[in-house]
Amino acid sequence: MALITWSETLTVNIKEIDEQHKKLIAMVNELHSAMGSGKGKDVMGKTLGGLIDYTKTHFAFEEQLMNKYAYPGYISHKADHDALTKQVAELYTKFQVGKTLVTVEVMNFLKDWLTKHIQATDKKYSSYLNGKGII
Ligand SMILES: [Fe+2]
Ligand SMILES: [Fe+2]
Repeated sequence: MALITWSETLTVNIKEIDEQHKKLIAMVNELHSAMGSGKGKDVMGKTLGGLIDYTKTHFAFEEQLMNKYAYPGYISHKADHDALTKQVAELYTKFQVGKTLVTVEVMNFLKDWLTKHIQATDKKYSSYLNGKGII
C-alpha cells in the first residue's frame, strides 16, 4: 500500500505545482515500497538521491515563481525550503556512510516532511498566485 495518497487536501490550486507534488509523492512511495521489498543499499541510495534531486528542482521552481510575482511570503518560504533541503541532505549523508537505514521512522519523517510543507507553507501562496493569473 502507498505511504502517501494524493487527495484534494494537498492541492495548491496551481496545476503544474500539483503535478510536481504528485511526482514527489510517487517518489516517496517508491522508496517506501523499495524498503518494504528489502531492496539493497544501491537501489535505496539511487531512489533517495533521485528524490533529493527532484526536490531541489521543485523548490527552485516554486522560488522562481514566488520571486517573479513578488510574493510577500517569499523569504520565510525560501528559509523553509533551505531547512528542508538541509535535513534531507543530512539524512542522505547518514545513509551513504552507513549510519542509518531507510526505516519506517525515516519514511514517516519523509512523509511528514513533504505533506506538512505542502499543507502549511505551499498552500499559503495559492490565493496570491491565483490572483496573478497562475492557476
Ligand atoms: Fe512544494
Ligand atoms: Fe514550498
